[in-house]
Amino acid sequence: MDRILIRGGRRLNGRIAISGAKNAALTLMPCALLTDEILELRNLPRLADVDSFMHLLNQLGVSTMVKGTSPAEFGRSMTFKASKITSTVAPYDIVRKMRASILVLGPLLARTGEATVSLPGGCSIGTRPIDLHLKALQALGAEIELAAGYVKAVAPKGGLTGGTISFPVVSVGATENALMAAVLAKGTTVIENAAREPEITDLAECLVAMGAKIDGIRSDTLTIEGVERLHGARYSVMADRIEAGSYACAAAITGGDIELVGARRDSMAATLAALHDAGIHVEDTADGLRVFTNEEIKPLSLSTAPFPAFATDMQAQFMAMLTMARGTSLLTETIFENRYMHVPELNRMGADIEVRGRSAVVRGVDKLVGAPVMATDLRASMSLIIAGLAAEGETQVSRIYHLDRGYERLEEKLQGIGADIERVGDG
Ligand code: UD1
Repeated sequence: MDRILIRGGRRLNGRIAISGAKNAALTLMPCALLTDEILELRNLPRLADVDSFMHLLNQLGVSTMVKGTSPAEFGRSMTFKASKITSTVAPYDIVRKMRASILVLGPLLARTGEATVSLPGGCSIGTRPIDLHLKALQALGAEIELAAGYVKAVAPKGGLTGGTISFPVVSVGATENALMAAVLAKGTTVIENAAREPEITDLAECLVAMGAKIDGIRSDTLTIEGVERLHGARYSVMADRIEAGSYACAAAITGGDIELVGARRDSMAATLAALHDAGIHVEDTADGLRVFTNEEIKPLSLSTAPFPAFATDMQAQFMAMLTMARGTSLLTETIFENRYMHVPELNRMGADIEVRGRSAVVRGVDKLVGAPVMATDLRASMSLIIAGLAAEGETQVSRIYHLDRGYERLEEKLQGIGADIERVGDG
């Protein structure tokens, strides 16, 4: 299995392209199931999860075409055409690899009147239930049955009907499934306590481009007037705010100066505020954001929460950066119960982090030292890369299939801004 080798200590400097957002791509792709016309998505990141989602859609009868872009470019365009849905089953094999597969549930149900999706089960960052997805679909009239590890949703004879969905906690995935189902339901649906993540806005705007009627975009109450059918559209995936934030942390820990080309300030206000509080400078440029520092990193007190607050997907990367802050930081994770798997690995590199329940106390150290490390999830892997970039000596990160799920050509991008990083095979 491939590993990534980093020889740390280089100051990052230069321009780095930010790819299309993984989490937006994976909710825009299932929109193809909602129409028999062509959906063209541009700026899709070249990631393992995007390929897996494409294969899932193929199995359901969607024909896909990758538009010719040169391999040197980041991102690519793809067209999707679901003239006829040939299967309404998302099998265990695919769902277990990629939790986002659950996002075919709402659109399949809305388009065909039924959907059967394997239960995703837990994952390394927590139990991650789907009860809210199911309650939302029930509110639109669906009958739900759970059997043999699968969830089967069936719409009433005349199709789904609008209803009120009131989420007790903010859920990104459940809001996405509810929205994709409601756009084709008869009558009005109101989604209360909807997630407001920028990826939800991207989804809503793509659906509007396909002919959906949605009010309240960007707010926590979405009102959807169901339409009979949606049409094709061409839509460009938003820039990845988490990728941009990750490289910002990498710049900060190396005392670097980089330009995040394509990054959008409005989608990452909490991340930028946290960088500012840590003493890192962020400036708007014509093409994105410049992140630079030559001072010591200041400690922070951060708590993850739904957007617009500080994202759980940024917690591990900030923790890596704060291992070298001047003082003690406190991070609190409120979204997932087990999202500190990177802590023992960072400690093996010389960090001083102590987990206390849902919080982690990070005492800044003067230096990190390279070590062989491995990660258990995507953002945790990135935290090890960030630490490795600043550590003395060599860091070897294994299980990098996690990184390939979410960071487009990571080592190539980091080499471009001066990192000493390479991918090596076992042989
Ligand atoms: C979450 C993050 C998202 C991140 C993604 C991957 C939030 C609000 N969501 O999205 O930013 O990109 O992980 O790391 O930060 N829950 C239930 N029942 C459900 C669904 C969720 O109880 O049916 C709970 C979860 O356990 C969790 C919370 O609601 O505590 C938020 O989960 P949710 O937003 O649905 O998770 P993702 O969509 O995976």
